[in-house]
Amino acid sequence: MRTIKTTAYQEEKDAETELKLRPANFEQYIGQSKVKENMRVFIDAAKGRKETLDHVLLYGQPGLGKTTLSHIIATEMGGKLRITAGPAIERAGDMAAILNDLSVGDFLFIDEIHRMPRVVEEMLYPAMEDFTIDIIIGKGPAAKSIRLDLPRFTLIGATTRIGLLTAPLRDRFGMIHHLEPYNVPDLCTIIRRSADVLEVEIEQTGAEEVARRSRGTPRIANRLLKRVRDFAQVEFDGVITDAVAKSALNRLEIDTMGLDAVDLKLLEAIIFKFSGGPVGLDTLASSIDEESGTLEDVAEPYLLQLGFIQRTPRGRIVTPRGYAHLGLQSETLPNQINLLDQP
Ligand code: ADE
Repeated sequence: MRTIKTTAYQEEKDAETELKLRPANFEQYIGQSKVKENMRVFIDAAKGRKETLDHVLLYGQPGLGKTTLSHIIATEMGGKLRITAGPAIERAGDMAAILNDLSVGDFLFIDEIHRMPRVVEEMLYPAMEDFTIDIIIGKGPAAKSIRLDLPRFTLIGATTRIGLLTAPLRDRFGMIHHLEPYNVPDLCTIIRRSADVLEVEIEQTGAEEVARRSRGTPRIANRLLKRVRDFAQVEFDGVITDAVAKSALNRLEIDTMGLDAVDLKLLEAIIFKFSGGPVGLDTLASSIDEESGTLEDVAEPYLLQLGFIQRTPRGRIVTPRGYAHLGLQSETLPNQINLLDQP
């Protein structure tokens, strides 16, 4: 009983911190300027016509602020945001219940929208287009189809994998926005604002060090900031300087470019187990005991962005830049390993 209480309390505190760190409006929301500027126009236009906003699709790597942006869009439109996720809606009936519960001007946020079952997705088509759903009542010859009218609502879909969305679903969104990884100066601004909220002193060079190792992602930047704050408090004098940030991040095994243990394991596996590649994703994933989905969504996009790996039709390869990051040379090493492996 006691543990349950403590856990619930801790979760509440974590959720509270998350909420405090989240920007409340477009002014506080750093970066993604193209998306922000366009969304402002679409929101002003819809408000000017006293209409609801068209459906919005947001895609991009995890942690870039798709949920945060959705909160801001709903707030700016003066609507309520209901949050759910593709895999959580298992049956058409679940989707019908969610839709039936909406009011005019509400926003329905579906995270991981590419992971909805087909029957659920098909129920969304008329809901998005005509604000109606067809419900089947009863079974067999006695089954009847009833059409229900829905209030005009806005669907905000979020996905890390736009390629997995079916064309009929994708085509029903009036706006499709790609969220980009953040640059170091923007991450720095986010980190300094978060440090303010968390009431921890941080020097510019300390913020830059955390930003450089946050792989372009605010969620990672905020997580690292909280852990660096712990080291600063317990092992230093509480201020996050350049040296404190470097020491803490090294202890967390986040390297100078933001690569973590999984990224390094992936690079080393391609180089040492598959002679630099090419190697298929599933083979690679099972060789390092990771889910291929995690590699594809989390590790790979950043390694591709850094130019440390490349995707070829025959699989993944490590680039000379990837070798160099590990202090290795691309030409000689795989051959040397092969020679050593020979009996
Ligand atoms: N926290 C997370 N994402 C943010 C952003 N884009 N701007 C400001 N604070 C953030």
